[in-house]
Amino acid sequence: MSEKEKGESIETSEAEIAVHWAEEGFVYPSAQFIAQANMTDPAVYDRMALDKCPEYWKEYADMLTWYKYWDTILDTSDAPCYKFFKGGLINASYNCIDRHLAQYKNKTAIHFVPEPEDEKVEHITYQELYVRVNEFASILKNDLGLKAGDRVTLHLPMVGELPVTMLACARLGIIHSQVFGGFSGRACADRIVDSGSDYLITMDAYYRSGQLQDHKEKADIACDDAAKDGKKVKKVLIWQRYPGKYSAKTPLVEGRDLIINDMLKKHYGARIDPVQMPAEAPLFLMYTSGTTGKPKGCQHSTGGFLAYVTGTSKYIQDIHPTDVYWCMADIGWITGHSYIVYGPLSLAASSVIFEGVPTYPDAGRCWRIAQNLDVNIFHTAPTAIRALRKVGPDEPKKYTYHFKHMTTVGEPIEPEVWKWYYKEVGKGEAIIVDTWWQTENGGFLCSTVPAIKPMKPGSAGPGVPGIHPIVYDNDGNIVPAGSGKAGNICIQNPWPGMFQTIWGDRDRFVRTYFERYCKNPKSKDWRDWPYLTGDAAVVAADGYVRILGRIDDVINVSGHRLGTKEIESAALTVPEVAEAAVVPVKHEIKGKEPDLYIALKPGIKSTPELAKAISAAIVREIGAIARPRKVWIVPDMPKTRSGKIMRRVLGAISNGTDVGDVMTLANPEIVELITKMVQGEEGKPVIP
Ligand code: WTA
Repeated sequence: MSEKEKGESIETSEAEIAVHWAEEGFVYPSAQFIAQANMTDPAVYDRMALDKCPEYWKEYADMLTWYKYWDTILDTSDAPCYKFFKGGLINASYNCIDRHLAQYKNKTAIHFVPEPEDEKVEHITYQELYVRVNEFASILKNDLGLKAGDRVTLHLPMVGELPVTMLACARLGIIHSQVFGGFSGRACADRIVDSGSDYLITMDAYYRSGQLQDHKEKADIACDDAAKDGKKVKKVLIWQRYPGKYSAKTPLVEGRDLIINDMLKKHYGARIDPVQMPAEAPLFLMYTSGTTGKPKGCQHSTGGFLAYVTGTSKYIQDIHPTDVYWCMADIGWITGHSYIVYGPLSLAASSVIFEGVPTYPDAGRCWRIAQNLDVNIFHTAPTAIRALRKVGPDEPKKYTYHFKHMTTVGEPIEPEVWKWYYKEVGKGEAIIVDTWWQTENGGFLCSTVPAIKPMKPGSAGPGVPGIHPIVYDNDGNIVPAGSGKAGNICIQNPWPGMFQTIWGDRDRFVRTYFERYCKNPKSKDWRDWPYLTGDAAVVAADGYVRILGRIDDVINVSGHRLGTKEIESAALTVPEVAEAAVVPVKHEIKGKEPDLYIALKPGIKSTPELAKAISAAIVREIGAIARPRKVWIVPDMPKTRSGKIMRRVLGAISNGTDVGDVMTLANPEIVELITKMVQGEEGKPVIP
């Protein structure tokens, strides 16, 4: 094990964190919701009890259409690299499209909402999706000669062509690797090289905040950088944002760049038989960051992944074919793969794809889309909820949409923010599921089955049916539910959605996720291989799991460990506060102290009194131990392109250490401004 890797596992071994964020009471689903829900039988938890694992996963496999039914539910011969539904043959594209045609061919599969509001929304029916996927698959097969097992890198924005491309790959068993459209050409190059892709599929341009961005220029950088690293991209295939018109300024590269919209003319009417893939064949790669080292290509399977996202979309998202479902994530993240494309389409729902920014051109945009498309299931992340609450707290009530169901994912949600989501966005009518999971997992780990379990603001909920979490301390002792203590949350059992390995790096896979609590490294019994999530969690006596964040988001103050989320949640009880982020600052005696960064709601002035009030709120909500060293009221938080607050950057500023590379942030310019503020070159620090 390298020093770096050791650092990774040491940081994920924190336990017994003192938790001060008060438990909220239950909120119950309405009778109206329960009456229409897919899953209302509490016995589902008994059916999927730990002692019945893995047999119960048949329930999810049976939601799919198989060419050949599997014979072994779980093959553990290469533990912890598992094979689910061995012997089965299946195709994901067939399951998301072809099997729905008899009943639903005229139903919308995808509503594509362009960012410019004067541009027409595109309603792609299942039949139209079938036609487009077949024609594009014909290009992949006949023009490029691609076949099952080949990897292709996609670098597409949020447009209808993205699921068309993914499903065309899946139709042929080609492994797609979609890189988030907002990532740079350099990041794309790393993923091309790691996956060994010969082809890059991209788009000329797309809209973001009112600007038509030249996206093709990133493809040029990606190809140049990949070539420097020894991987030559053979061809770049380019979708046109406006078919028939090239919308990028960057010129095409002779002999390398091909316009898909032109190529398609030769493939009109083509039909490509779906390839019957083994259940365990990889469906896609999704790269994610570790604490250290290069991005990891999480390899997801065909049969297992599809079964798991279909099952959880049905039971947790409560998706019916009649629903209009809108997940506002980007398909470039795992949430989009599982819960914009594969899960909803496998269930024949209508899935919304929105090109733009939720707050552009104004804070009402999301709610106009919801109203116009009659969306009834809404799915987003706390960061977006906080942003919408900040810029337009009273906007939702101006629109006539009605959600039955809302999801939150990606970070712990502060009870204050949860309550706004529930009351204002959901109008008190929609149930909320807080879904905790990771890129590695394929689908939800903890959440509530909405018609069976009540909601608890700030808690994700128990393990979803079939998922059995367990919390260990540093020494491998079980931290019991209801003890008030936190530790490292692990999953005891395998599930079909879990990734199969890190692409090309089985050792890193085993080391990062299984080594820590493995009971016997030679064992072929899954019971010996708990999966380490790398999150700290505390489990209430009722089994509800509260995620405290990555273990490195936890601050040890004089031996008391404080979840940064708890402090932030306390700060958010001050009505003027829009966003809060806590970072640990080194302290000689106490070990660490929290530094608190605050962004205020629009129009609110930063004053020393307000900073004092925020500090007092924390002491009031948690205790003097959590009193922040300083309250920095900043104009905006440094954020990643996916909207997560970069606490690492704030921590470096607070500690006066190197902030590292910030160019990939959504707003790199803010870093210098905050540094000056905190390190005293400009303005006066606000000290309570
Ligand atoms: C965090 C996103 C609290 C967690 C699907 C996890 C959450 C990491 C939640 C994975 C949630 C995700 N409550 N924390 N509901 N959902 N997380 O890979 O720390 O982008 O380990 O997957 O986000 O992020 P990833």
